[in-house]
Amino acid sequence: MSHSLDEKARAVLRGNDRGGYTVPTDMLYPFQWNWDSAFAAWGFSTFDNARAWRELETLFAAQWKDGMVPHMVFHDDAPGYFPGPEVWDAGGEVPTSGISQPPVAATLARMIWEGDAEAGEAPMRALYPKLKAWHRWWMETRCDSGAVAVCHPWESGRDNCPDWDVGLANVDGSGAGDYARRDATQVDGAQRPTKQEYDRYLELVRFGKECGWDQARIVADCPFLMADPGITFLLIRAHDDLAAIGRALGEDVTKIEGWAAQLREGVQTLWNPALGAYDAKDLRSGQWAGVIGSGALLCWLARCETPEMEAHLARMWDAVTYGLPSSDPEAASFERKRYWRGPVWPQMNALIALGFLSAGKDWDEARLREESAALIEASGFREYFDPMDAAPCGGDNFTWTAVVWLAWAGR
Ligand code: SER
Repeated sequence: MSHSLDEKARAVLRGNDRGGYTVPTDMLYPFQWNWDSAFAAWGFSTFDNARAWRELETLFAAQWKDGMVPHMVFHDDAPGYFPGPEVWDAGGEVPTSGISQPPVAATLARMIWEGDAEAGEAPMRALYPKLKAWHRWWMETRCDSGAVAVCHPWESGRDNCPDWDVGLANVDGSGAGDYARRDATQVDGAQRPTKQEYDRYLELVRFGKECGWDQARIVADCPFLMADPGITFLLIRAHDDLAAIGRALGEDVTKIEGWAAQLREGVQTLWNPALGAYDAKDLRSGQWAGVIGSGALLCWLARCETPEMEAHLARMWDAVTYGLPSSDPEAASFERKRYWRGPVWPQMNALIALGFLSAGKDWDEARLREESAALIEASGFREYFDPMDAAPCGGDNFTWTAVVWLAWAGR
């Protein structure tokens, strides 16, 4: 079973390889997506290190002058995708979107580097200043409130999770007009964000475009700005990993260590005492999201865990058959099949499990690995899964699910 799944997983990666970059899946996501691509590199590193480094090079070739690494890179025309490059209108030699995505590249690149005995210093020497510039961009453009803020739900990677509901309520999507979504024709619409959410996502793209994608203006005036425990924990961990890389390269990492310390303090602004948990916060209204999502479950990754989060983890895990759900299964907003409102996401499980390992929670790591493997064995390399019965959801032949099998769950 495992052996044939290994072969199939490699075939998924090869099939999604467009020559130097990897699409998350054919049709539904026909471009290079930032965090999907970093995962693709990790997957390639299990059988083709050169191709792994190439993936990271391609992603960082799209880096903006200010250090931002965009969330999408539009290498080829894909007229069916919406919203495509003409809607974003964010420029670039190869056109890109105008927001970023979860900074997982340093963490995954470190694992790739440490596993590649033949790499030497060269590929990491080339990547290190780019990673550092991106981390600086997060610190300088997104951390005014203490924790990391996102100015579009897509920037968080967890598009329609209930965390963003309070912030999206401030966004007027009534001017979105007529448009044709491809996603909801390729995948059951009940597993995708709603039209009301899409109208608001598009309004935020329109707003960014009107600002000429000037990030300072967007942060100052965008109707949506929410502080996110998920990206904050990922960036803390990414700073730690980048500092370790820097030390191995003989670099001065004082600045990076300072960023990590600053954010470890800053993330405490996201402790919601009423919820007894880390929570997203609407920086426009001051309102809490009031719901525990998988972003908060990344606290172990940053070593910011608390006894209360341990209790929530146990409760949320016991409420489903397959951990870990993308949103609290006991909350009213939970929907077991709708994108980020409940389903299990394999790449999140891999990140959460990495946190468990760092915290010495080996038993939890093994449980999550086995449950993740069981999902893939039951339903294949799907984008996400129903946490109650393992039903396959979203896109098929999905890059990061194949990666998670090869690099972690199927080991
Ligand atoms: N995840 C978004 C989509 O569904 C964009 O990043 O297309």
